[in-house]
Amino acid sequence: MVSYKDLGLVNTKEMFKKAMDGKYAIPAYNFNNMEQLQAIIQACVETKSPVILQVSAGARKYANSTLLRYMAQGAVAYAKELGFDIPITLHLDHGDTFELCKDCIDSGFSSVMIDGSHHPYEENIALTKKVVEYAHQHGVTVEGELGVLAGVEDDVVAEKSHYTKPEEVIDFVNRTGCDSLAISIGTSHGANKFTPEQCTKNADGVLVPPPLRFDILEEIEKKLPGFPIVLHGSSSVPKDQVDIINQNGGALKDAVGIPEEQLRRAAKSAVCKINIDSDGRLAMTAAVRKVLKEKPGEFDPRKYLGPARDSLKELYKHKNVNVLGSAGGAA
Ligand code: G3H
Ligand code: 13P
Ligand code: ZN
Repeated sequence: MVSYKDLGLVNTKEMFKKAMDGKYAIPAYNFNNMEQLQAIIQACVETKSPVILQVSAGARKYANSTLLRYMAQGAVAYAKELGFDIPITLHLDHGDTFELCKDCIDSGFSSVMIDGSHHPYEENIALTKKVVEYAHQHGVTVEGELGVLAGVEDDVVAEKSHYTKPEEVIDFVNRTGCDSLAISIGTSHGANKFTPEQCTKNADGVLVPPPLRFDILEEIEKKLPGFPIVLHGSSSVPKDQVDIINQNGGALKDAVGIPEEQLRRAAKSAVCKINIDSDGRLAMTAAVRKVLKEKPGEFDPRKYLGPARDSLKELYKHKNVNVLGSAGGAA
């Protein structure tokens, strides 16, 4: 049994309280390799932002769970070495079983998500409650989910989203004891969040997605005043990155994300955590494709992963400063 407290990590309690009071959202960035982690830590230290490092079940399979945990531990020391001690949470993204959550808690995670949103309501409650009871014995915070996002959620593909029902949130939070709640108000996972048919087109022919359901968010806020809300599927899918990918041999069609202004608005509300993974994947892929197209003789991974890391870092700094508003939150 390894406690996150011994690793220099923190749970999300204090972080979310400050984010709520300061009207910003904590960035939750996924990582599964060294360059991503370096970019996240560099960006968050330079912008003095707290950060949630997210690890999915898929990331644990890809990179090895022990290695990832040591990397997160290393990230705490790395941030200090860079000159600023930011709060860092190590969080399980989309945990789907009690056993997986327990394994993460026992190996040093400071926060877990139990995603029971694909189960019937009562089963979601029972599963979430079971995780909360174990997690709280160890000071670990728990994120539950109500409502289903469209897109891919850890191997589960939902064709249609089901918005969170505001009338269920009080009962869910009271009966499970969860510390934060992920809701569905129109965000979606991946780089193709909406079909062209769901979008309109602006004057330049660019796809404009349907707006987030701020009315549902407001109703939820009224029912749960001061309770931390989480948004998944919140990549903006920057057009410039998609264009670089496509100009350098890629084939991403109709990629569309959540406009930054809407995330900015959400971050000022009870939304305390905003999940971003796909934008990092796009930035990294764009940089790698560009280097390899321009320098076909290059075969030193540092020569393409280095620029990918730099691009990721700029992306995360931009998010912290201009979208989530978390810059300065650790000052
Ligand atoms: O919401 C899912 C995250 O983007 C993680 O994706 O399961 O492919 O690692 P993954
Ligand atoms: P994106 O696919 O929009 O980046 O969402 C990531 C996410 O929700 C991770 O849990
Ligand atoms: Zn997610």
